[in-house]
Amino acid sequence: MNNPEQNKKIENLKIPAHVAIIMDGNGRWAKKRLLPRKLGHRAGAEKLRQVVRWCADYNIKYLTVYAFSTENWQRSQDEVNSLMNLIIEFFSKYEDELRAEGVQLRFIGELSDLPAKSLEVVKRAEHDSQERNRIILNIALSYGSRQEIVRACKLYGKALQNGALTSDQLTIDNFSDFLYTADLPDPDLLIRPGGEQRISNFLLWQLSYTEIYFIDKLWPDFSKEDLLQALAEYSRRDRRYGDAR
Ligand code: IPE
Ligand code: IPE
Ligand code: MG
Repeated sequence: MNNPEQNKKIENLKIPAHVAIIMDGNGRWAKKRLLPRKLGHRAGAEKLRQVVRWCADYNIKYLTVYAFSTENWQRSQDEVNSLMNLIIEFFSKYEDELRAEGVQLRFIGELSDLPAKSLEVVKRAEHDSQERNRIILNIALSYGSRQEIVRACKLYGKALQNGALTSDQLTIDNFSDFLYTADLPDPDLLIRPGGEQRISNFLLWQLSYTEIYFIDKLWPDFSKEDLLQALAEYSRRDRRYGDAR
């Protein structure tokens, strides 16, 4: 927060409680530099580290990032392996920094699909950060929203079977409790860098009334100024939720 220009801008902004980001464009970033895709992912991880800090400084309470989708398992074994190893590398390298910044970690997705070592690191990061509360960083790994909804339906089926709930009692709120995001508020703002204007199976239920901001820049090039611009745009939006105000 050392740039007075940027500090002044933030004073007049409406700050969303929950920001979600589809971290897209790492591969193209690497390609432009004639580098292997895995170096693009590494640059993307470094960007995440910065963005967490900026968001915490701006008092954003929840940051949910799409790091690896269910569909990303289709990529080459080499790319998948490098991403799984990057998870391990990231948490060992930045453990102290994440602690110092007060970052609580959570993960959503089909974590049982992860290789044993990556899963262990993820579980430990979650466990060790439970008491921190400056910002909650929620990372979507092996995550697909349709899969999440089907999983929720199965859990609901079990609740019916064991008598915890009757079908008449199902509401939007208690259905949400069966989702991975049960104890998180819905995102207020979704940012997708990388130039694509689609959701790619991310948080379909939770994004129902989220403001969406697309930006052409590739994720590793995303800057503090870009975040400020997204927040400025969010501040200008009129969230009517279907009302006629
Ligand atoms: C996003 O970057 C990271 C993951 C999907 C894991 P991409 O790897 O999709 O980068 P592009 O879209 O090919 O540039
Ligand atoms: C979405 O990006 C998933 C992540 C950023 C983790 P993709 O690159 O996989 O999405 P598509 O293929 O462009 O829809
Ligand atoms: Mg992509």
